[in-house]
Amino acid sequence: MWGGRFSAGPSAIMAEINASIGFDKRLYREDIEGSKAHATMLAQQSIITDADLKAIISGLDQIKGEIERGEMHYDNSLEDIHMHIEARLRELIGDAGARLHTARSRNDQVATDFRLWCRRAIDQLDGLYDGLLKSIVDQAEVYADWVMPGFTHLQTAQPVTLGHHLMAYFEMFKRDRSRLSDCRKRLNENPLGAAALAGTGFTIDRHMTANLLGFDNPMANSLDAVSARDFAIELLSCLSISAVHLSRLADEIVLWASAAFGFLTLSDSFSTGSSIMPQKRNPDAAELIRAKVGRIMGAQNGLMVVMKGLPLAYSKDMQEDKEPVFKAVDDFELCLSAMTGMMNDLKPNKTAMAEAARHAFSTATDLADWLVRELNLPFRDAHHVTGAIVKEAETQGLELKDLPLEAMQAVEPRITKDIYNVLSVDASVNSRISFGGTAPANVLDAVKRAKEQLA
Ligand code: ARG
Repeated sequence: MWGGRFSAGPSAIMAEINASIGFDKRLYREDIEGSKAHATMLAQQSIITDADLKAIISGLDQIKGEIERGEMHYDNSLEDIHMHIEARLRELIGDAGARLHTARSRNDQVATDFRLWCRRAIDQLDGLYDGLLKSIVDQAEVYADWVMPGFTHLQTAQPVTLGHHLMAYFEMFKRDRSRLSDCRKRLNENPLGAAALAGTGFTIDRHMTANLLGFDNPMANSLDAVSARDFAIELLSCLSISAVHLSRLADEIVLWASAAFGFLTLSDSFSTGSSIMPQKRNPDAAELIRAKVGRIMGAQNGLMVVMKGLPLAYSKDMQEDKEPVFKAVDDFELCLSAMTGMMNDLKPNKTAMAEAARHAFSTATDLADWLVRELNLPFRDAHHVTGAIVKEAETQGLELKDLPLEAMQAVEPRITKDIYNVLSVDASVNSRISFGGTAPANVLDAVKRAKEQLA
C-alpha cells in the first residue's frame, strides 16, 4: 500500500507485531457498510463516477459473500481488515477500487467501523437485558410472598420476600441497561471524513455519510474523531458495572445453593457434577459469572492505560483497543445468557427459606416498633427494652413469638398479648408497606410497573 516510499518490505517480526487482522476481521461487516456509504457520498459529490460507484458496491457485496463463506485469504502482510477488503476490491474491479480511498484514511475508517461495531453490540446486549429482566420479573411475581431472611453483614436482619430480593436485581439491571443506552447516544456520531487527522480538501458531505450509517451527526473535530476512544472505554465501564451486579447475584446463587443455606436447588442444566464426589451438584455457571467480572474490568482498565498519555491524533497503540472490547462483549453476552437461563430455572426451597427467616430473632425490630406505636416509647428506649427481651429469649432457647408473655412483661410490664400479632415473619413482611418496602403487595405493584416498562 505504501510501496512508493519504501524499497524493502517489513521483516516477518514487523509484520507480525503490526498485524491486527487476527482480531479485526470481526469488523468486516462494518468496514463494508462504511465503504459503501463513503463511496455513495463520493459519487453524489461527483468525486468518483456513478460507474465507479456501481463497481465498488457490487465488488464489496461479492467480498462480503466471500468472507461469509470462508473464502477470504488472510495474510499478516495486509495488516488489517481494511487493507484486506481494499486489496481484494482492487483485484476484483481494478481502478475503481483504487479510488475508494479518496478523501479517507484508515484512521477515520477504523474509528467508524469500531463505533458501528460497538453500536451493534449494544443493540444486541439490549435484547439480552430484556430477556433477563423479563425472567426476573416473572420469578418475582411467583415468589412475591415467599419469606426469607434479609441480611445485613450476612447476619439475619429482618424477614423479606424472595420476590422483593429478586426485584432489587431488576432495578440494578434496568439501570445498567439504561447506562448502555446513554453510551449508545454519545457514541453515535460519525468520524468518517475526518480523514487522517485534519479533514480533507475534497468537497465531501459528512452529513450524508452520517445519515447513511445511522449516525446522529458528523463529529465536530477531525482530530477528536480519529483519536477518541472514550466510547469504547465507556462501553467497557457499563459492562464492568453490570458485571459487578451479575457477580453479586451469582454469588448469592452460589451461597443459596450450598447445603449450609439450602435456599435453592440448581437445575440439572445449570449444575455440574464432581469426578470424585458422586453427591455433588456444583454451581459452576454462577461461579464463572462471578469470576468474569475480573476479566471485564481488566479490559476496561487495560484500554484506559493504553489511551492515557497518547498525543493527538492517531497512534498505533490504538490498534490495541479492539481485542479487550471484543472479548469483554463476548464474555458479557455469555454471562447475561447464562444468568437468564439460571433465573428461568430457579427452584427455591420454600420451607428452608421460611425456616431461616424465623431464626435469629428476625422480628426484633417489629417488637421494638410495636413498643413505639402502642406504648409511645421513644425508639431508642424501645430498642433497649427489645434487646433485653431478645436476651431472655436467647437464654430460654426460644424464638420471640414463643416467649411467654410474663417473660416479656418482666422487662416491660405494659406489654400485652397483642404483641404476638407482630412477631411472625409473615406479619413482619406484610407490614412493610412503605414505598419500596418488602410487603408482598408492594412486590406485586413493583412487578406490575416493571411489566409495563418492559412491554
Ligand atoms: N489497524 C489499524 C487500527 O486498528 C488501522 C488504522 C491504521 N492507521 C495507521 N495510520 N496506520 O488502528
